[in-house]
Amino acid sequence: MVKTLEQTAREPLYSQVANKIGQLIEGGVLRAGDRIPSVRRASRQHKVSITTAVQAYLALENRGLIEARPKSGFFVRVQRHYDLGEPKTSRPSSGAVPTESPTLIAKLLDATMRPDIIQLGAGLPNARLLPVQKLNRMLAAAARRAGTASIEYDMPPGCLALRRALARRALDWGVKILPEEIITTCGCTEAIVLCLRSVTRSGDTVAIESPTYFGLIQIIEQLGLRPLEIPTHPRTGMDLDSLERALPVRRVTACLVVPNFNNPLGSLMPVANKARLVALLAKKEIPLIEDDLYGDVYFDNGDRPHVAKAYDKRGLVMLCGSFSKSLAPGYRVGWMMPGRYFEAARNLKCATIGATPTLPQLALADYVVNGGYDHHLRGLRRALKRQVNDISRAVAESFPERIKMTRPAGGLVLWVELPPHVDALRLHSKALTEKISIAPGPMFSPRQDYRNFIRLSCGEPWSPQLERAIGVLAYLVKQMC
Ligand SMILES: Cc1ncc(COP(=O)(O)O)c(C=O)c1O
Repeated sequence: MVKTLEQTAREPLYSQVANKIGQLIEGGVLRAGDRIPSVRRASRQHKVSITTAVQAYLALENRGLIEARPKSGFFVRVQRHYDLGEPKTSRPSSGAVPTESPTLIAKLLDATMRPDIIQLGAGLPNARLLPVQKLNRMLAAAARRAGTASIEYDMPPGCLALRRALARRALDWGVKILPEEIITTCGCTEAIVLCLRSVTRSGDTVAIESPTYFGLIQIIEQLGLRPLEIPTHPRTGMDLDSLERALPVRRVTACLVVPNFNNPLGSLMPVANKARLVALLAKKEIPLIEDDLYGDVYFDNGDRPHVAKAYDKRGLVMLCGSFSKSLAPGYRVGWMMPGRYFEAARNLKCATIGATPTLPQLALADYVVNGGYDHHLRGLRRALKRQVNDISRAVAESFPERIKMTRPAGGLVLWVELPPHVDALRLHSKALTEKISIAPGPMFSPRQDYRNFIRLSCGEPWSPQLERAIGVLAYLVKQMC
């Protein structure tokens, strides 16, 4: 029999068929109200058994993409979730800074390790979406090739093969850079810490998006810096008029921004805004630390979004990234392109952590150079887009109508605004007792704003357990309304 589907892949056959049809629907080839082929015909088209085709159609029904009409067959469903509004541009508060955040983060990380918990909290792709076996093979091959070098320190600036591969990839981000201008790091976190430490001193003010990733807030606080929250639009990112107004009033020493798919908003700063952001800061010689962790996981079929560093003529943009959200979080391999602060950043790395793990860098360099990474990214982007759609739809259908939700163009999280009196911290505790992890809104602001917001991770493939979990969350929210 001719195999039209990869029958040896770990993903069940029915799910592969469902995904193929799902892609036609999401790509607009099949439109709302269109009849889709009968089960018998689908079984012939995809060269699978009738049972598999039935399972595939059930999966599509569960995902809300198709519906069975009595005596007529299966039809593409009208999607309702885009009727929901989006949250407005944020308005961060001023006031005392509370201190619950570290405990919340510890709780969230703790839940990530528990297999009995439904993971809507930690923003990570499920390991099933990552090429574990391939990476294991690359790691073994790299160890064989490297010999004793595989256990030696790889001192800054780090693995040359990887830096060369990154310099080639950077062209797609709009950046022309030499391998000598790149330093590999232990994840994006180390890159950001080193960049911040290179350009600030304790007590300085750092402008950030609001809301933003709680890890960035923690770094800022740990370094004794003061976060200045700038209003942020859920689709276009940091509000540059607000930033421009704040700059003469507050002495801002650095700006830390996630222009491509901010976590938790999923916002994508338009090209013109990226250029304006860089120019605005350059006028005052303020360094921009750009976190591009999510740049590779865009949903659009077009080109990868450029980074703000593409518009940097003065070396003031310090670009940071890693493979944590797209490939291997546990390898702890990231990088920084610190522009004119290269020396300072490298010296700090030498004086602190020093080397970056040798073997993972070698394996990743091979994987990127031989095209494996790009191939994997294509599948990952499709899967994440589908998962974001699935969870958006389920939330829109089961939560109270007054909620609002982001429509991310990349990344893997959704930001949901609940009715005003629903306390996200209470919802978080209640959900945990039901073995569901979510990230409550206050984690994403230094002043613990966003009391009625939650972030839902879409890293898990759609499943009956996930559907049940969203039903339970919806029930809890309705109870608390
Ligand atoms: C915006 C952002 N930056 C940095 C990190 C940390 O990245 P890494 O695991 O590579 O240190 C995260 C993790 O979720 C993140 O969301």
